[in-house]
Amino acid sequence: MPGYEYGDYEENVAIPYRRVLVTGATGLLGRAVYKEFQNNAWHALGCGYRRAQPRFLRCNLTDEDAVRAVIQDFQPHVIVHCAAERRPDVVEQHTEAALNLNVHASGTLAKEAGAAVLRVPILYGEVERVDESAVTVLWDKVQEGAESCSVEHCQQRFPTYVNDVARVCRQMAERRLQDPSIRGIFHYSGKEQMTKYEMACVIADAFNLPSSHLIPMTEQPAGAGAQRPQNARLECSRLELLGLGVEPIPFKTAVRDSLWPFLYDKRWRQTVFH
Ligand SMILES: NC(=O)c1ccc[n+]([C@@H]2O[C@H](COP(=O)([O-])OP(=O)(O)OC[C@H]3O[C@@H](n4cnc5c(N)ncnc54)[C@H](OP(=O)(O)O)[C@@H]3O)[C@@H](O)[C@H]2O)c1
Repeated sequence: MPGYEYGDYEENVAIPYRRVLVTGATGLLGRAVYKEFQNNAWHALGCGYRRAQPRFLRCNLTDEDAVRAVIQDFQPHVIVHCAAERRPDVVEQHTEAALNLNVHASGTLAKEAGAAVLRVPILYGEVERVDESAVTVLWDKVQEGAESCSVEHCQQRFPTYVNDVARVCRQMAERRLQDPSIRGIFHYSGKEQMTKYEMACVIADAFNLPSSHLIPMTEQPAGAGAQRPQNARLECSRLELLGLGVEPIPFKTAVRDSLWPFLYDKRWRQTVFH
């Protein structure tokens, strides 16, 4: 079969010849990236840390020797590095730990592989818990129903679906195998501009829930943690010019796909316990 070779350890099981190592495969983005490569004729090895077992390889990326051993063993054609401390407030409070993972571990991997960096804005997708993403966490506010509830309405955001980002990563990887000039910094972003208040209203609409209890908060409260940009728009033309852009799935559709298990979960609990 073209594009496949047979592994010698599992008889009759086709192993794709292209190997990708996905770090952060237990996280929000890494889960989508791992699935995208696996479903498209790549042999994917996922690593995680605290949540790695039983599905993924456990590897502390701040341990350089461990990282080198994984790379030597697996010999990936491509590494998609999704592991990071992504929460700005935690980065400010635990700067050294964040530097070790976000800067030093990334440096080790980049030295092994040579890097293309894909910058993205606020992400959402299928979550294990709604507070895993700053978008899906709005579900709690939407659910509050009758209780009025203020939601931030100052900062312009571009919510970006991890499945779209995962497709971009795969396309970049496949192009990079043919064209080593695919390196440096790229941007990818959803196209719909909205504040968190507007996102919450779309989430309510997607599930036919009321949004009249949501109050737009037009001033930033004092002491609101690490500073965030007023407008997180990214300039994405480099990716588009190379034909590597992906048309984003509309926010309302993708956020419904991401959150529906929580709707049924709640109804199920209400049925069983009340
Ligand atoms: N989420 C967003 O809104 C957003 C926005 C812009 C950019 N990004 C960027 O997108 C990338 C992915 O973010 P995400 O939202 O998917 O993050 P996430 O859900 O918080 O996942 C972080 C991942 O890093 C792993 N990890 C943490 N410490 C590690 C260590 N010492 N060794 C190995 N792995 C470790 C975690 O593994 P365990 O859980 O198994 O410990 C987890 O898989 C990051 O570069 C982030 O900065 C995210």
